[in-house]
This record gives sequence, structure tokens and C-alpha cells, in this order.
Amino acid sequence: MKVYDQVVELAKRRGFFWPSFSIYGGESGLYDYGPLGVLLRDNIVRIWKESYLADDAIFIDTPVIVPASVFRASGHLDKFADLATECSKCHNRQKLETVLEASGFHNIIKTVPEANEFLANNVVKCIVCGNRITSATEFKLMFRMPSQGSVGDLYLRPETAQGIFVNFKLLNNFYRNRLPMAVAQLGKGFRNEISPRQSLIRLKEFSQGEVEVFVDPQKKFWKDFTGSHRLNLLPRSGAPVTAEVTSSEAFPLMSSNSMSYFIDKTASILRDVGINLDSVRFRQVPLNDLAHYSSDTWDVEVRIDDDWVEVVGIADRNDLANHEKSSGETMSVKMEDRTITPSIIEPSYGIDRIFISVMIHSFRTRENGFKVLSLPESVSPYHAAVFPLVNKDGLDKLAESFFASLRKKDPYVVYDQSGSIGRRYARQDEIGTPYCITFDSQTLQDSTVTVRERDSAKQVRFRTDDLVSAGIIGNPAIRDAFRPSVPQ
Ligand code: GAP
Repeated sequence: MKVYDQVVELAKRRGFFWPSFSIYGGESGLYDYGPLGVLLRDNIVRIWKESYLADDAIFIDTPVIVPASVFRASGHLDKFADLATECSKCHNRQKLETVLEASGFHNIIKTVPEANEFLANNVVKCIVCGNRITSATEFKLMFRMPSQGSVGDLYLRPETAQGIFVNFKLLNNFYRNRLPMAVAQLGKGFRNEISPRQSLIRLKEFSQGEVEVFVDPQKKFWKDFTGSHRLNLLPRSGAPVTAEVTSSEAFPLMSSNSMSYFIDKTASILRDVGINLDSVRFRQVPLNDLAHYSSDTWDVEVRIDDDWVEVVGIADRNDLANHEKSSGETMSVKMEDRTITPSIIEPSYGIDRIFISVMIHSFRTRENGFKVLSLPESVSPYHAAVFPLVNKDGLDKLAESFFASLRKKDPYVVYDQSGSIGRRYARQDEIGTPYCITFDSQTLQDSTVTVRERDSAKQVRFRTDDLVSAGIIGNPAIRDAFRPSVPQ
């Protein structure tokens, strides 16, 4: 069974995520985050946010409903579409790219006439019933609202970015007219996907953490830095290479210092949330496959079973010039003795795809068949679980009172007194809780408890008052006791 399928099963059973509206038959491409999913996702978002705060980014929150004028200027109204096929026999609808790949074709086709000519001359089959596919159509990806705004149609945004671009002047004023400037937005995006699939991977409603980095178009410089990872790089031309990206403007593989900086930074964020960088690749998008707004893009792809899934796109874009032209409002700024319209480097993070990648890369099966989510402590929904070994002899009362005190220090703890101790450990392992604290008969003698570390299953005794005063996460005594099995 694929790890993806095992994780999707665990996610539903243990309260991470599941298909929405299932009592009414469900709706493809819509998913709920359950109680543990909300906590895990918050932690991923916090790490992303703190990483950008450390780079002096400022944050904004803009509406999901956007007037057509914005998307006319950005090019989305005309160009944000996919080529689709519909099988004439079973009526299954797919992206053209998907049916081509399933029939062994990996070429990039951008227009309907080109697609129809290709389908007339090559045998491409429906991925469901095997019937031959002979034509393609253009499928617009934005959802249009049924009601109009005061100046025309309204759309649900397919990316959060435009809300930042249209506010560039106000934001730069807030930032005291300095450049470079990074502005981030976390929010929902909506796409009328042709074939929503694979749970969180292709959704109609999804979360993006987008950062728009405004830079001088001549240099596209962010800052000097030392590359901190060896990355698997697939440049547009030339052989794949594993290398550290550097801040040097001469670094031949990347178009700018900003592009290399945000590639390296993205690797740090993905590593910190629990994605294994050995199973990540940075792929420069071929020129004929770039989005309409981009002159250069590196996709960050994560390995999931035998597939590579894009979780982040880092694009070089030039949207301010479009908005200046369409709105008549100037988007230029003074820089030393020049007036410039900034270029934009945009690391755009798909939070849902990162979320499922974290679960998949953390998933292990023990020799006894039990499942473990080896999540980093910093993203685990709970930091610790507290158990009384038995619910008698006053152990339960002691454990409850300890739990109440611990929870004042750290709210991300949980109490569990039901079932055998083995079952309780197994339950916490499956949801990624790094530590289980058990009250047993010795606790009554010397006020010590066992702390069991998830990955090694090793147990060490600690005094209850030491745990309450120093907490669990970041407690040096716990780190020392379990190093090196504790994920750093
Ligand atoms: N502003 C640029 C932009 O939106 P994108 O590559 O289309 O670029 C960025 O999207 C990220 O958003 C992707 O790398 C992916 O992780 C996520 N994403 C895009 N469409 C998605 C969908 N239908 N479901 C889930 N995530 C999606």
C-alpha cells in the first residue's frame, strides 16, 4: 500500500483531515481539517511566518473576492486556463497534460489548435475507459461570482498575490519607502480545477502563504548569504546537480541573488517543518511551460511515493507594470537617483501540499506494524500526553492535578486514561506526540514519572515538579536524556 494511502487513512481516523460534506455525498476538491490537523497546520504556518518575520517581512490580509479589473490587468482573465479533455464515451474530464502523460507523451501543449492537431495524429486514451481522446477545450480556472460588484464582475481569487500588488504603494509607504521589501499574505485561494484529486494535493479551495519580494529590477538583490543546504537542482538546461546555492551574482544556475536566496530559505522552512530534503528537488520550469505572469520559475517538488508534487513555486514576476498601466496609478519608487518599478520575486507556498508532505515524510511503520508520525517537536499537534498507569490508588488524581499544572505552562498537552498503556502509547505515536508521561506505582513513592520518547520508545524517569517548572519542549534535561533520538 502506498504511503500516501496509509496517511490519508490515518488522517481521517485520527482527526487530521477528511473529505468535506460527506453526509451529503461530498464534493470533490473540498477538505476539512480536523482537530489535530488544525493544530499541525497552525504550527507549519507559524514556522513559515516566523521565518519571514526574521527577514523583516511585513504581512497583509486582503479580500478573497476580487473585481475583474484586477484580473484583467494581471492577465488571469484571459490566460488563467488549462487545456481539458472530456472522453466522449465515459465523459471523464481531465487535464490534457494528465491524459498525455498517461499515454506516454511528455510534450507541453499550450493552445487548443495545437492540442487538436496532436490528438488527431497520436493515439491518446482516456485514463478511465481507454477510449480514444480526439479533442481538447480551454477550461477557465477562476470561479466567477454570480453577483456583480459596483464596477463589473467579481471573482474568487486564484492566488493571494494580487491583493499585495495592488497595495504596493501603501505598503512601501508603511515600510518607509525602502527596497527591497518583502510582503507576505496567508489566505485562501480558489481554483475551478478540472479534476480535483489526491485529497489535499489538488483542491478547489486551498491555503497559500505567498511572499512578494519587491526588488530593484536591475540587480534583483536581496542580501548576501551562505547557502545552508545541498539541494537537488534540475536546471532548465544542463544536467541535474546537487549543490549549495550561493549569494554570488555569478552563481550560474540562478537568474538573481534573490532567486537563490529564497530557494535556500525555502529549503530551510521545508526542513524545519519536517520534510526530508533528500526527497525534495528544485526544478526550473521550461520556458514554454511558464505561467503567463512569470519570466523564470523554480518549482519546489516533494517526493510522494513515486510522484513528484509541486509544493512551492518561486517565480520572477513583473505585475506592478501591468497594474500601473491598467489603473493609471503609479507603481514606481525613487531609488537613489533613479525612478524604478520594482520587479518581484515570489516564493508561493501551498500550505495544504506542505501539510500532507510533512505527514508523509514523517510516517513510519514499526516492526510490529504500528504506525508512527515522527513529526518534529515544533510541529506536533501535542507536545506531551499524560497517563495514569491505572485509574486507582490515587494515581489518576495525581496525574490529573499534574496535567492541570503542566497545561498552564504548555496548552499543547493531552490527558488520556482509557485503554491499556500500550494502546495509549500507540495512539500518541500515530498522531506524532513526542513524549508520553506515565504515572505508576513508583510515583506514589518518590514523585517521579516515566517520560517515553516517541521514536526510540526509550523511557527515563523525571521528577514531576521539574517537568512542571521547566516544561516539556525545550527542557534541557529531556533533550539530554533522549539525544540523539529527539528530532532537532
Ligand atoms: N502566486 C503564484 C501561484 O499561485 P502556483 O504555482 O499556481 O503559483 C502556488 O501556486 C502553490 O499553491 C503551488 O506550489 C501549490 O503548492 C499550491 N496550489 C496551487 N493550486 C493548488 C490546488 N488546486 N490545490 C492545492 N494547492 C494548490
